[in-house]
Amino acid sequence: MKFSTSADLTKKYDVVIVPFYEGAKLACRASLFSAKNLGPITTKDFKGKEKECALVYEGKKRFLLLGLGKGQNIRRCYAEAVSHCTKKKLKNIAVLVPAKGSVYDLADGLLLANYAFDKYRKEKTTLVQSCTIIGGTKAHLKECEHAAKVMEGVYLTRDLINGNADDITPARLAKEATQMAAKYTSVKTKVLTEAQIKKEKMGLFLAVAKSSVAKPHFIICEYRGDPKAKEHTVVVGKGVTYDTGGLNLKPTGYMETMKADMSGSASALGLIKAAAEAKIKANVTVVIAATENSIDAESYKPGDVFTGMNGMSVEIGNTDAEGRLTLADALSYSVKHLKPTRMIDMATLTGAIVVALGQERSGLFTENKALEKALVEAGETTGEKVWPMPMDDEYRELLKSDIADISNCGGRQAGSTTAALFLKEFVSNVPWAHLDIAGTAYLDKGKFLDTTHASGVGVRLLIRFLEGKK
Ligand code: BES
Ligand code: MN
Ligand code: ZN
Repeated sequence: MKFSTSADLTKKYDVVIVPFYEGAKLACRASLFSAKNLGPITTKDFKGKEKECALVYEGKKRFLLLGLGKGQNIRRCYAEAVSHCTKKKLKNIAVLVPAKGSVYDLADGLLLANYAFDKYRKEKTTLVQSCTIIGGTKAHLKECEHAAKVMEGVYLTRDLINGNADDITPARLAKEATQMAAKYTSVKTKVLTEAQIKKEKMGLFLAVAKSSVAKPHFIICEYRGDPKAKEHTVVVGKGVTYDTGGLNLKPTGYMETMKADMSGSASALGLIKAAAEAKIKANVTVVIAATENSIDAESYKPGDVFTGMNGMSVEIGNTDAEGRLTLADALSYSVKHLKPTRMIDMATLTGAIVVALGQERSGLFTENKALEKALVEAGETTGEKVWPMPMDDEYRELLKSDIADISNCGGRQAGSTTAALFLKEFVSNVPWAHLDIAGTAYLDKGKFLDTTHASGVGVRLLIRFLEGKK
């Protein structure tokens, strides 16, 4: 979607979006739009409630009246408006700037909903091509363009998640990272092959990878946007390109969405793309231990013990708790080789977080108060909300093993917390936060923005986090 500004409505648009507050009160300057012919519509049919939409025609002109309610959730309202436009194939739209509220959020909403995933079907969606901000300033335009650049990363993330597991393999994730390095001078990528992964003694990652015909790839993709920055953030993304559960095979009803088990890594790669496009001032390195959790004669077995890169031995209580094993070695590698000042991992790690928080908030696990505050704030401003969860040492009991240093499975109780405490064993003393995005990365269809399943959660959250407070 290309943004521009204009002072008036004389040009031709497929539709002009006119904002209203509750009670059908015009939400933009009256000089931009004359509502005099709308009497019966705005007094009877249209109330201006949040996300309410009404198409009206005046001569040859088409208007979409958009309810902003109390104006507290502009992003969702403009997302709703775009869904109406794409359904009616309206390609060139204009919006009147609301008198209050953020133009960034407006653009964000338009862009979030202007996405389709048509790769596997004949019928293609007509997306919005251009958007003119009527009454917009130069500063407004800059905000819109920034939002659009960040959204390029979100779209990449969604494409990777929505794609077939047989297309989006570990090798394909590595290729994506390599291609970004070729495209942007600010990005560098290194990929370790299986032999190099063995040399690094990533015994936990390799245990998971044993079963898979698709070879494991260990991806290190760095973005450098600020030579003087004090912070070097490492973002580790779970990259399980399909999770069958392994020998502890998932039953029907639990496996169908598991092509999305690489959402953390997709968001991490999307983050690099967004950072490079928007040229944000920060340094971040993404680390991904990509593999499938398959089932095969060579599968790793429940009851066996494997040792991670940091020397920690792990008893396999359940082969379906594979994500934490891949993340463990990715975290160990980051601590040993990348000199991070802080680490954040994103992972579709536990079904338990879906039970606790549903699809509205990601679980946030950290013992670092500054990280907690910054991530909670970034969540509120971007709408990618997170919720702090407990990490008390007492829960560590649940991970005790008779024959190894730790078990990878803590049983039914506090499943998301024991997963987080498992990861904690591999972060050494680096400030670290874990985001469990199992509920927020892959949504029921029709949820929120009525586009596709993959939300792209994490990209906008971490861009805002990296940019610092505004
Ligand atoms: N990938 C799953 C978690 C998941 C569940 C993601 C639902 C998205 C939606 C993860 O690898 C897993 O299987 N976790 C197990 C852990 C258990 C065996 C300790 C779980 O949550 O049941
Ligand atoms: Mn699993
Ligand atoms: Zn998994």
